[in-house]
Amino acid sequence: MEKKIRLHDKTFKMFIPNADIEKAIDAVAERLNQDFADATDENPVILLCTLNGAIIYAAELLKRVTFPLELKACKLSSYSGTQSTGCVKTEVPLPAHLEGRRVIIVEDIVDTGNTIVAMKELLEAAKVKEAKVCTLLVKPEVYKKDVKLDYVAMEIPNRFIVGFGLDYDELGRNIKDIYVLDE
Ligand code: IMP
Ligand code: MG
Repeated sequence: MEKKIRLHDKTFKMFIPNADIEKAIDAVAERLNQDFADATDENPVILLCTLNGAIIYAAELLKRVTFPLELKACKLSSYSGTQSTGCVKTEVPLPAHLEGRRVIIVEDIVDTGNTIVAMKELLEAAKVKEAKVCTLLVKPEVYKKDVKLDYVAMEIPNRFIVGFGLDYDELGRNIKDIYVLDE
């Protein structure tokens, strides 16, 4: 029997098992460890976790990356229910003193890209030295923006998913596998 869960008014079915997610994260962490091997205690990288969806991904990366870093967080939001609203709101502002710093933006998923475009603009305005995008998931059929997605753990089709930090109206973040809306 296929594994299914119910959140609010919708049913979701098993999509990506935790072991596969963790394997994909191992590969990203290995790349990060190579690319940021030159970071120093005097000039640590900023790992910028985008709340709330990227919390688990950021935690899994933290267990695996070995270069000096500072963990920071901020929150932009664009989703309501299972749809992007197209309007990005700042709910928790960027940390202070980002000028000249190297930043890794840790995102749960890039869908339309509205959020990541807004995030990049905010970081540019804060005069960071560089801002790399590190997202767990991307929906390539939907994402048509120019912002480069530097590190992508997994690509998925244009379906609504939950679990591993991602929510449906705040429920489902604490499910360790990824589930897809059962239509
Ligand atoms: P974008 O601005 O359209 O790229 O949407 C990015 C944000 O929408 C993500 O950080 C998620 O919080 C949310 N989001 C996009 N797709 C999904 C999904 O399939 N499930 C849950 N949240 C999603
Ligand atoms: Mg969300």
